[in-house]
Amino acid sequence: MTDTSKQDHVLIFDTTLRDGEQSPGATMSHSEKLDIAALLDDMGVDIIEAGFPIASDGDFYAVSEIAKNAKNAVICGLSRANFNDIDRCWEAVKHAHRPRIHTFIGTSPLHRAIPNLNQDQMAERIHDCVTYARNLCDDVQWSSMDATRTEWDYLCRTIDIAIRAGATTINIPDTVGYTAPMENADLIRRLIETVPGADEVVFATHCHNDLGMATANSLAAVQAGARQIECTINGLGERAGNTALEEVVMALRVRNDIMPYRTGIDARKIMQVSRMVSTVSGFPVQFNKAIVGKNAFAHESGIHQDGMLKNAETFEIMRPEDIGLTETNIVMGKHSGRAALRSKLENLGYELGDNQLKDVFVRFKALADRKKEIYDEDLIALMADSNTNAANDHIQVKYLRVVCGTEGPQTANLTLTIGGEDHSVEATGDGPVDAAFMAVKALFAHEASLQLYQVSAVTEGTDAQATVSVRMEEGGKIVTGQSSDTDTVVASTKAYVNALNKLILRRQKTAPAAIASQ
Ligand code: KIV
Ligand code: ZN
Repeated sequence: MTDTSKQDHVLIFDTTLRDGEQSPGATMSHSEKLDIAALLDDMGVDIIEAGFPIASDGDFYAVSEIAKNAKNAVICGLSRANFNDIDRCWEAVKHAHRPRIHTFIGTSPLHRAIPNLNQDQMAERIHDCVTYARNLCDDVQWSSMDATRTEWDYLCRTIDIAIRAGATTINIPDTVGYTAPMENADLIRRLIETVPGADEVVFATHCHNDLGMATANSLAAVQAGARQIECTINGLGERAGNTALEEVVMALRVRNDIMPYRTGIDARKIMQVSRMVSTVSGFPVQFNKAIVGKNAFAHESGIHQDGMLKNAETFEIMRPEDIGLTETNIVMGKHSGRAALRSKLENLGYELGDNQLKDVFVRFKALADRKKEIYDEDLIALMADSNTNAANDHIQVKYLRVVCGTEGPQTANLTLTIGGEDHSVEATGDGPVDAAFMAVKALFAHEASLQLYQVSAVTEGTDAQATVSVRMEEGGKIVTGQSSDTDTVVASTKAYVNALNKLILRRQKTAPAAIASQ
């Protein structure tokens, strides 16, 4: 068999749809998951962890559909180490050309205490579950969860058992983001040297970012022999998130001189997928985020700007176009036609079917009536909006008129279409947004509390569109809605309604307790 640690190809395992979706508030709808999976597949992600099939019928259905549609990527589902989970996972992933079952249990002392298993009992469970999974599927990934806080001898034992039982990938998760680069590298290197059969399987690294070291820890693991990096777009994930896909991919590219490994990712798709994930998860990308942040290629100081004009390499280690960033320019106005819109959107990385183009064109014309100059950012916001506010949503904003000014109370007249029927109300509030939100609440009663209300301008100028994010919580479930419009109150109301639509989806979903801390 081949010694995988000597090969230079590093597999990219994307878990945006599983670990990323576990971020409180990052719930994605079925069609959003399918769109993200299609883009990940298209950009060359090797393995897509599409969800946790036993978690809910929605997760099961999403994993099955992604498995049916995937063209190249391996489609993986997560399952705890028990036969029920593994069966459900297999039922979902089996439709893929290349299915994978990923099964795990927490092996550190703290995690062993939860199911109250001693070392021998857990070892038997690992053996039985990996054997069971392997009888269903040729591609089985084993994870000793909280590996970086598991006793060395016991960690070796769990991995040895998993390899003997037929696991083909061994994942070493740093579940709580506790390790550091040298330590992670040392752990992986010693495991590969020590555990019998280690050279027959692929070692994977799965790092969380609690101490801000996830990318460094993942790259250190690769240098020590790991050949699969588990990561998410924009570093989405529970608490401080997971390793960011765009960071490891670009680090391996830009510093190939000292890290001579390659991935199969088409980096020019990075911006597009980053925007899509930010929109559907409702998690804005911080301005100074490496690679995909708004300021990642902005040069403010005079010295930097001067240097950039003379030679871009003075202050840039990669080019914006390497990650699919196109220059901002005025693109279109109200006289632009459908073909021009299609071509512009294609340049920005969006490929639309005829029906979708028709819908986007109507929205584009409405925007162009209100805004003279349409910039790339406007089109990106418009695309995001047509993804989040869809025609088949349970609740839709049909009409809104708000009266505001120095003399209160501010009043909102609102018509919502709920489950196909129109309902209208007039409500007052402390300011126009509050009045509009009161009206939504009057028409669609709910207990969810507002946790975050955030407005940002898409471009400059007083006619700029506003993008509004609204985060809500109901019984521990957190959802985030988003919308953009030149009218901030309209954007706010639509973002609120978008959050409620997500909450309705989320109510149908119950995650198993054991996953809560991963
Ligand atoms: O962080 C973690 O340990 C996980 C496992 C399920 C792989 O996400
Ligand atoms: Zn994780």
